[in-house]
Amino acid sequence: MMRTVATTPFQDQKPGTSGLRKKVPVFQQKNYVENFVQSIFDSLEGFQGKTLVLGGDGRFYNRDVVQIVIRMAAANGFGKVMVGQGGILSTPAASNVIRKYQAFGGIILSASHNPGGPHEDFGIKYNAENGGPAPEKITDRIFELTKKIAQYRIADLDPVDIDKVGAVKAGDMTVEVIDPVSDYAVLMESLFDFDAIRAMFKGGFRMRFDAMHAVTGPYAKEIFEHRLGAPKGTARNFVPLPDFGGHHPDPNLVHAKHLYDEMMGPDAPDFGAASDGDGDRNLIIGRGIFITPSDSVAMLAANARLAPGYRKGLKGIARSMPTSGAADRVAEKLGIGIYETPTGWKFFGNLLDAGMATICGEESAGTGSDHVREKDGLWAVLLWLNILAVRGESVMDIAHKHWATYGRNYYSRHDYEEVETDRANALVADLRGKLAALPGTSVRGMKVAAADDFAYHDPVDGSVSRNQGIRVLFEGGSRVVFRLSGTGTSGATLRVYIERYEPDKTRHGVDTQVALADLIEAADEIAGIRSHTGRNTPSVIT
Ligand code: G1P
Ligand code: ZN
Repeated sequence: MMRTVATTPFQDQKPGTSGLRKKVPVFQQKNYVENFVQSIFDSLEGFQGKTLVLGGDGRFYNRDVVQIVIRMAAANGFGKVMVGQGGILSTPAASNVIRKYQAFGGIILSASHNPGGPHEDFGIKYNAENGGPAPEKITDRIFELTKKIAQYRIADLDPVDIDKVGAVKAGDMTVEVIDPVSDYAVLMESLFDFDAIRAMFKGGFRMRFDAMHAVTGPYAKEIFEHRLGAPKGTARNFVPLPDFGGHHPDPNLVHAKHLYDEMMGPDAPDFGAASDGDGDRNLIIGRGIFITPSDSVAMLAANARLAPGYRKGLKGIARSMPTSGAADRVAEKLGIGIYETPTGWKFFGNLLDAGMATICGEESAGTGSDHVREKDGLWAVLLWLNILAVRGESVMDIAHKHWATYGRNYYSRHDYEEVETDRANALVADLRGKLAALPGTSVRGMKVAAADDFAYHDPVDGSVSRNQGIRVLFEGGSRVVFRLSGTGTSGATLRVYIERYEPDKTRHGVDTQVALADLIEAADEIAGIRSHTGRNTPSVIT
């Protein structure tokens, strides 16, 4: 019943910022999934008889891969697979299940905010026993194994019925199909003041939550409408679809423009939010005001004590390097640690495990805390709701008061998508060559104070991660950062992050792109973006 199958390696199975991401037809090649999953298992030790958590965002190919992983887990000696009903588990919910049931680890099937469908993206990611994405030393090991794999183990089993909650046998292994929502909802109830939020809804507070036909739909229905009493219809597009209804399940101002427009319109509700394909990202919009993710993490941290789960205060805040420095000012005022890590949630894991940071955030709409080891879209929405319920003020008022206290970090990210890989690499190589000569020079009247290629020294395990983004710092605290995306599936994506600090309260009402105009030009002057990429404008501005 257990078979060992001979196979040959693929050379393109290098996990990126968050797991292996490729187009569905790539994953559909014979042995492609099997090779990668076997390489994950081969990179691990000591899982015999232990539990593996399994689930995904429901995108096309999710169900097929769930069955493959179950058969391979059985053949490799796992004792149990806990799988979300229908193969569904949001990324933060999977992280919670791993932690709560002390599983050995988990496999999450998702390509996050990338589109889904037969010709779109799919992804496989391994999370370790702390519930977080495997650290680089494991993903590197997995990649090495994929390059020389010669065989994999699989059990000949009928497909397991993953639509019925309960335990069944798959060979010697148990498959327990679990409700994907309930453990997560219980966790949220333990962190937030559900009574206060319920009372706010009862008082007429209006909210829109757009699940973008992705994984958070069932979670949002249950938590907002059933447990918190929000009116029916608060959760929109709440049925997860394998192709996300043909849209990008990416909660940004481009792909959730309808929500933005509604929130800026005459009959805007009090609060608008959205989450991405696998439920780890968030979009927060108040009536008449978009909150940038960088600001959101700062504002959440500043107000976290209003939520029961954070009443004792924060141990520290961590943010990815390209994320704005708004959170740094909050940490300074609170007298707690602030940590600057490379892009990618996996870098927060050690800080969270060591109890050095409580809240973490990335400019790319990821916010979370030590309640799990992934960023968590609904968590961010609920913390905002908790804060709004306790303060009884609008999002707009809270934001303006925050800026008045801490100053405002104007911030924007410009993405150049699907640039030819060679051209993008040439831009980066050129830029690296120029770095040493930049300090002391002036660009558009702004003096460069420092320039480097960010290297992270992990304070917990001492590991060093180099080449994590090129930073050019100007006198006065403005900066531009350049890096290539590690999650794209076609060509290269150049990300340019632009930031300017404005302490003066009378100048907090300027349009962001206007406030950053000089720096945007400076970025082009420094890196030759237009000439290298052949593009005049970014594909996405957030
Ligand atoms: C992007 C984001 C990064 C995030 C990752 C996974 O990675 O920039 O912050 O952690 O997606 O959601 P990138 O494509 O920039 O490598
Ligand atoms: Zn995601």
